[in-house]
Amino acid sequence: MKIIRTVSGMQNIARAAHKNGKTIGLVPTMGALHAGHLSLVNRARKENDVVIVSIFVNPKQFGPNEDYLRYPRPLKKDSAACRKAGVDFIFNPSVKEMYPEGFLTWVKVEKLSDFFCGKHRPGHFRGVTTVVAKLFNITQPDRAYFGEKDFQQLTIVKKMASDLNFPVKIVPCPTLREKDGLAMSSRNSYLKPEERKAAKNIHLSLAGAKRKVKKKKTKSIEELLAELEKNLQSTPGLVNQYINIIKPKTLEEQKHHIQLPARIIYAGHLGKTRLIDNIEIK
Ligand code: PAJ
Repeated sequence: MKIIRTVSGMQNIARAAHKNGKTIGLVPTMGALHAGHLSLVNRARKENDVVIVSIFVNPKQFGPNEDYLRYPRPLKKDSAACRKAGVDFIFNPSVKEMYPEGFLTWVKVEKLSDFFCGKHRPGHFRGVTTVVAKLFNITQPDRAYFGEKDFQQLTIVKKMASDLNFPVKIVPCPTLREKDGLAMSSRNSYLKPEERKAAKNIHLSLAGAKRKVKKKKTKSIEELLAELEKNLQSTPGLVNQYINIIKPKTLEEQKHHIQLPARIIYAGHLGKTRLIDNIEIK
């Protein structure tokens, strides 16, 4: 396994791999790798000749008062995990390498980037799509792996790849969870012990709402969401940011009567930590 730090070095490797008829799988990450990330890596390992994991804490997707500076960066530990998982290359550029002075170009997917997480984190998805477009041009993947944990991100990246004709297949991967149901996230390490205990209620509440829909024990979306909101709000320290039921393909909010397939999407703060999760209802 090799760690590549320059754009030109990575592009040369990608070009050579394609010339030799090899397929490339890319797993874009910001590091602090956990089993959720590694499930994407394992899938990429099975489906491609060459596996590249990018590790880059992308400043352009963080707001001014967000956790860019304190975001964990355990590169040694991440490298060991990648090596063990059979990764061929880690692409780990500096901020200057990715955004040299005078950088001016943005990629933005309209509409889809403006609501839910986009509304509460202005500029976030524009930062994500810009860096992902760059990573696609740098690593030239045949397949790129994204988690359903970040469902809006996955939908936006799919749209970008299709609208801009990137020759890459976006592969959605299911959310990996801790034993108590909490979705794995690099940000879980911020949680104090009592917050970590309370955090399981997010998934438990979403799963409870899903069960109600499945058993047809609910009258309307409004009623379901009100109950869910109350449930979540009773979790010590948790402050809800949004809860919605959406059509999974278009992210459109559903009203009144639920139509399947649907997804319940959630964001909230536990103390200073922002957590998101979602659940599919088929
Ligand atoms: P990061 O939060 O590091 O996540 C990298 C990838 O891992 C994303 O596709 C995310 O959805 C997936 N992932 C995170 N937690 C997961 C879990 N519990 N189960 C399965 N997959 C999980 O998302 C980003 O980085 C960045 O926005 C990025 C796409 C790299 C652009 O900077």
